Amino acid sequence: MRLIAILYYLIPLLLIQTVTAGQTISNADTVSASTAGEKLWNQEFTHSEKPRSCAACHGENPGLEGKHVRTGKRIKPMAPSITPGRLTDVKKVEKWFKRNCKWTLGRECTPEEKRHFIAYVENWKE
Ligand code: HEC
Repeated sequence: MRLIAILYYLIPLLLIQTVTAGQTISNADTVSASTAGEKLWNQEFTHSEKPRSCAACHGENPGLEGKHVRTGKRIKPMAPSITPGRLTDVKKVEKWFKRNCKWTLGRECTPEEKRHFIAYVENWKE
């Protein structure tokens, strides 16, 4: 009887610990992914005459309104916490990743880089 009583308390405790440990790992993962994303966002790539960066069109951070470097057109902040609907349409995101990565980096972004960009933009808060 006693053993069952002990197990009764022990099992949920172990379960809770496992879940919290998992969260800690994924939080740390998110933090390092967004830090990497932030770096990439502001990094200047020099494959053309003038240095290019995501920030050049989108602003220094995803909370700011951007301005297209060539057309001067305004671009609403990239952060979903400010502009509803951002990063909700996979097709749109993929289309712009393709176009913007080619223009900015001179090549398509790797899945890792995309993950970092998304972590940064998605978690950006004022
Ligand atoms: C030459 C200007 C320019 C540069 C540089 C640029 N973008 Fe963009 N980006 C745009 C425009 C224009 C849009 C579409 C307008 C809109 O959605 O408001 C867009 C849209 C996006 C979207 C779609 C967001 C959504 O609505 O879901 C993502 C993601 C994105 N850009 C990421 C990036 C990343 C990452 C970089 C750097 C590698 C980058 N962009 C560099 C101009 C640019």
